[in-house]
Amino acid sequence: MDLFASIRPEVEPLGQGAYLLPGFADTDALLAHIPALLDAAPLRRMMTPGGRQMNVAMSNTGQYGWVSDARGYRYDAADPMSGEPWPAMPLDFISLAKQASKKAGYDGFEPDVCLINRYEVGTKLTPHIDQDEADKSWPIVSVSIGIPAVFQLYGPTRGGKAQNIALTDGDVMVLGGEARLFYHGVKPIAAATDPRFGPVRYNLTFRRAR
Ligand code: SIN
Ligand code: FE2
Repeated sequence: MDLFASIRPEVEPLGQGAYLLPGFADTDALLAHIPALLDAAPLRRMMTPGGRQMNVAMSNTGQYGWVSDARGYRYDAADPMSGEPWPAMPLDFISLAKQASKKAGYDGFEPDVCLINRYEVGTKLTPHIDQDEADKSWPIVSVSIGIPAVFQLYGPTRGGKAQNIALTDGDVMVLGGEARLFYHGVKPIAAATDPRFGPVRYNLTFRRAR
């Protein structure tokens, strides 16, 4: 009998350059950094350029941060709430992003942004493309922490049928190749509780902005 037959592969290709690394991240190690990061740059619900308040609460760590307001979407070296630089990206974050991208076949990735997303039960993320980065040949590395989510991966155009990907604590997704510019979103988060911090999902997305 193959004892390992039921264990998921370390790298699951999702097609077109997207990969899932089930349970790749040690989320306890990542979470240890979160209080200090969010103390320096608190979570906030940003305004879309169209004047709508986003459902997902966000902050950033790294050389740059992703921000949205009436002026548009962009990366900024300073947190607009404080005028101060974003808190430095912890080495544990950087090494996780590098290891995950390498494992998915994208070597040499050096993130300069980690967007921190916080979802509560019922929060969803509308389908969008990540396209504010200078060089889109670098992948996006996305780490799930806490309660589960269903990630929806569409294609290069808005709409159509999504590939639904169940993400649980520690799962890492790498979007590179064609899939780097695919529409994607998150379905409304179902009720659940993380034993460490309650009914919350965090998502860390590592990007190369400049
Ligand atoms: C994002 O697309 O920026 C976040 C994806 C996620 O929360 O899994
Ligand atoms: Fe995204």
